[in-house]
Amino acid sequence: MDTVLLSDNDIDLVKAAELIRNGEIVGIPTETVYGLGADASNEEAVRKVFAAKGRPADNPLIVHLADFSQAKDYTTSIPDLAYTLAEKFCPGPLTMVLPKNDRIPMITSGGLDTVGIRVPSHPVMHRIIEISGRPIAAPSANTSGYPSPTSAEHVMRDMNGKISAVVDGGSSRFGVESTVIAIEGESTVRILRPGCVTKEMLEQVCSEVIIDHAILHELEAGQKAASPGMKYKHYSPKADIIMVEGELEGFIAYVGEHTGDDVYSLIFDSDSDNFPYRYMTYGKDSSEQAHLLFQRLRELDDAGAVRVYVRAPRPEGVGLAVYNRLIRAAGFEVIRV
Ligand code: TXA
Ligand code: MG
Repeated sequence: MDTVLLSDNDIDLVKAAELIRNGEIVGIPTETVYGLGADASNEEAVRKVFAAKGRPADNPLIVHLADFSQAKDYTTSIPDLAYTLAEKFCPGPLTMVLPKNDRIPMITSGGLDTVGIRVPSHPVMHRIIEISGRPIAAPSANTSGYPSPTSAEHVMRDMNGKISAVVDGGSSRFGVESTVIAIEGESTVRILRPGCVTKEMLEQVCSEVIIDHAILHELEAGQKAASPGMKYKHYSPKADIIMVEGELEGFIAYVGEHTGDDVYSLIFDSDSDNFPYRYMTYGKDSSEQAHLLFQRLRELDDAGAVRVYVRAPRPEGVGLAVYNRLIRAAGFEVIRV
């Protein structure tokens, strides 16, 4: 099939919404990353999403709504804390896992009896949900396992010929996917995937915020994942990614001992003065690093990198999201210097 590139004017957004109403798949910009949007209530359409991504059937899709008030239409019960969180963080990069009702088919929820609900703030995604009048299931628009797309061009690269259209809404503001949380009890949440709604921000509303063990640690054989996405290798470019933790001096020494053909380092802006080996930089703070990380991983592949040593941010604030994506891209290979 031909994949059409649409712009973000209203005529094109009507076209995109029409495609979704007709059970087709469209690449759509959001404030986190680009998503592969389909009518969440249409089993055939959702099946196409899994096929286009090559995604395992047990990994559930997030359902995107225009307003949190619609969450009651797709769930069996909503705790008070969810409303409090929605008031503070919706629309925005937060996904809440809630008990689903029958309007969300099992294929969308990967066989679970819960559904991740998110109200995106990106005006293009918001408008497409509104015009289509449908709940939109949207995983990140990458080939399964590859870094998430933060531009329409990335989506085209992964999905050209596999989906009906891509809407170009510019580069994604946050650059990492939404924070996924489960609500546990009256005032406790568990972070299943860290994002730009940080632990520290959630603590302003909740008495306890638990970081699920699988965010920083590899699941052991037979261990059950609180979120199916944690089971799979993720965000991986073709190059071998190795995280090197410690001070810059130790990093340089380590890279010096292990450098070679087509070896790169991915470093902070502040590291680049006199950095002696081949490198790319990815920003000066965690927010910039989140914004640039996936783009850089793709650029490293384009440059032909076979091995990449990465300076990782401290796993705090937005840095926890960056650290989590990197440690998974690295297959949990971390060197301490
Ligand atoms: O920012 C985002 O969330 C992007 C944009 C497009 O909205 N979407 C996204 O979707 O990242 P995806 O499918 O690439 O990642 C969804 C993650 C997966 O790790 C999945 O396992 C988890 O959320 N998830 C979804 N529904 C869940 C549920 N009911 N229970 C536990 N985890 C769930
Ligand atoms: Mg994804």
